[in-house]
Amino acid sequence: MSEPQNITSPLLALPAMDVDRKRIEKAMHESVHTPDSYLNEIASHLIVAGGKRLRPVLAVAAAQINGVVASEDAVRGGVSCELVHLGSLYHDDVMDEADTRRGVETVNAKWGNLQAILAGDFLLSRASEIAASLGTEVAGLLARTIGWLCEGQIAELRHTYDVSRPEPSYFTSIHGKTASLYGTAARIGGIVAGHDRVTIDALTDFGNAYGMVFQIVDDILDVTATDEQLGKPAGHDMVEGVYTLPVLRTLATNSTAADELADLLGSPLDDAQQQRALTIVRSNEGVASAMATAREYVQRAEDAVAGFADTPATEALRTASRVLLDSAVVPA
Ligand code: IPE
Ligand code: IPE
Ligand code: MG
Ligand code: MG
Repeated sequence: MSEPQNITSPLLALPAMDVDRKRIEKAMHESVHTPDSYLNEIASHLIVAGGKRLRPVLAVAAAQINGVVASEDAVRGGVSCELVHLGSLYHDDVMDEADTRRGVETVNAKWGNLQAILAGDFLLSRASEIAASLGTEVAGLLARTIGWLCEGQIAELRHTYDVSRPEPSYFTSIHGKTASLYGTAARIGGIVAGHDRVTIDALTDFGNAYGMVFQIVDDILDVTATDEQLGKPAGHDMVEGVYTLPVLRTLATNSTAADELADLLGSPLDDAQQQRALTIVRSNEGVASAMATAREYVQRAEDAVAGFADTPATEALRTASRVLLDSAVVPA
C-alpha cells in the first residue's frame, strides 16, 4: 500500500519551519536512543517510517506567534508531545489490530503485541522525562494529557459495535484521544515561550478545536477515501466496530438506508458487507453533516487566534484548520 494521503498544512510552510523540522527530527531520534539495540530498533521503527510531526510543529508555531525564533525548549516540548502520540499509536495499533501505519508494517504486526505495548510504554516514559526537564507545569500537563488519551480510548471501547452509540460518546472520545494532545502541544509551546496566560489559554483553545477538526476529518476520510489514498483499508473503523460521526449521522437519518446500515453493523463485517456499508455511508447525508460539524470547530479555532499579533506563525494558525477541513474533500 502507498504512503498515507499527505495533509498539507500552512504550519509546515512557515519560513523557519524547514530548520525547525530538522531540529525536531534530530531531537526525536536522540530521545529514543538506548544501549539496547533490540529496543532501539522497535522504539524508532515508526519514527524512521515518517509521519507528519504535526504536534511538534504546532508547539513550535505556538511558541513563535510573537515572531521570535522558537527556543530549544519549544522543540523539546514538541518532541515530548510527538513521543506521547507515537506511544499511543503503538498501543492503538494493538487495540485496532492494525497491520500498516505510516506506509510500513505496524510494530505489533512485525514484532508482536507484547513488544508493541512495552515499546509504547518506553516512548511514554521518554516523553515524561523530557517534559519533566521543562518544569512542573509542563510535566503535570503532559501526565494529565496521557490520562485524557486513555479516557478517550476507553470511551470509544465502551461503545464498539454499538449502533446506538450516543453522539456525546463520540465527541468525548475524540476530544480525549486526539484533540487534547493538540491542545497540549500548543499550550506547551506557549508556556515555554513565556507568552501571557490569556494567550496560552487561547493557544490551548486553538489546539483543541484544531484537534477536533483533525479527528473528524480522519473519520470522514476513513469512509470517503480509497485504500491507496489512506495507506490502509477504507472502512476499517466500521469493521473494527468504531462508529464515527459520518456513520452515526447516517444511522440517525430516518431512512431505509439507515435501517440497512444498522442491520449490517453491530458485529464484524465480511468484505462484501464492508463495501455495502461504505456505499451506504458515502451516498447519504452523513458525510456532509459531519463536515458541517467540523466546520463549526474550524470557526472555533479561527476565533481563538483572532486577537494575536500579525506574524507568519499567527497567519499559519489562522488558516491551518480550514486547510485541514478542505483535505477531507477527496478528489474523485
Ligand atoms: C494519526 O495521527 C492518529 C490520529 C489521531 C487520527 P496523524 O495523522 O498525525 O499521524 P502521523 O503522525 O502523521 O503518522
Ligand atoms: C488514533 O485513533 C489513536 C489515538 C489518537 C490514540 P484512531 O484509531 O482513530 O486512528 P488511526 O486511524 O489508527 O490513525
Ligand atoms: Mg483506534
Ligand atoms: Mg487506529
